[in-house]
Amino acid sequence: MDITYRPRRLRRSPSLRSMVRENSLRPSDFIYPLFVHEGNQVQPIGAMPGASRWSLDSLIHEVQRAWELGIRCVVLFPKVDESLKTENGEECFNEKGLIPRAIQLLKKEIPQMTIMTDVALDPYSIDGHDGIVSAQGVVLNDETIEFLCRQAVVQAQAGADLIGPSDMMDGRVGAIREALDDEGYEHVGIISYTAKYSSAYYGPFREALDSAPRSETTKPIPKDKSTYQMDPANSREAITEAQLDEQEGADILMVKPGLAYLDIIYRLREESELPIAAYNVSGEYAMVKAAADRGWIDEKSVVLETLMSFKRAGADLILTYHACDAARWLQEK
Ligand code: PBG
Repeated sequence: MDITYRPRRLRRSPSLRSMVRENSLRPSDFIYPLFVHEGNQVQPIGAMPGASRWSLDSLIHEVQRAWELGIRCVVLFPKVDESLKTENGEECFNEKGLIPRAIQLLKKEIPQMTIMTDVALDPYSIDGHDGIVSAQGVVLNDETIEFLCRQAVVQAQAGADLIGPSDMMDGRVGAIREALDDEGYEHVGIISYTAKYSSAYYGPFREALDSAPRSETTKPIPKDKSTYQMDPANSREAITEAQLDEQEGADILMVKPGLAYLDIIYRLREESELPIAAYNVSGEYAMVKAAADRGWIDEKSVVLETLMSFKRAGADLILTYHACDAARWLQEK
């Protein structure tokens, strides 16, 4: 055949392919999410094989292991004791709470690791919502923000490097920025959950923290988070959220979930010069684990291909429960 251009010429050998490869994965691209609890055991999580609730002692070892694999950032989520949960989630700004203690411990033992936190009320609220639920069953915006600011300041005080508001209240990035600055934490960054969708992919995470919205008690409680998290049908709205977060002082923008929202990652990459993060969430992790366990897919190849897709879409950073495995596989390659 008379073909001038043959793209296969550059695919002939591993070395040629490596020369023209457009994207790459490095362990420092990953942010490793970790669950902590008060107990002294390592508790496996049913729907997330390979992930656990760590005790404070075991957390140190896990973070050390991640550091040695080249991971440079972890994000901490608390499984809060039922007895500490309240309607308004006041435990979220307890200076002696689980998260501040975990941060202090990690900063003492592994000071070089970047520590990211989650800001929202759901692990601390009886109602299981990211904000305060009124007697009428409305998730209150401005009242919630006061609590989030106190939570962020307590986390910064404990030594957090990056504050991650995941609550989706309007105006919270600006308010948290101001609260941090007022308290002398102008060096602490904000990685905002900018385009966080009201998604069914968070199921296993809510099991891990026992933080799903509760059924009605003495007041009506919204069944899902769709009055504050984004509608999966929308993409232009993600641009609006990104513009607001940028104006309000966010340092990094995040899209969540990741895999079903690659188009949103791509659009934010086009619209903003800030670093973009993608959250490869618990449900995405659970699906891969389940299929791999049945022998239906090859876990390593599927995970590395998926993580690469986030980079290709335009993400600089990837929050993923596969972080340690992926870092190890990259070393083997
Ligand atoms: C809480 C929060 C959630 C996740 C991160 N922070 C759950 C939710 O919004 O209901 C989900 C992470 C995952 O599924 O891996 N605000």
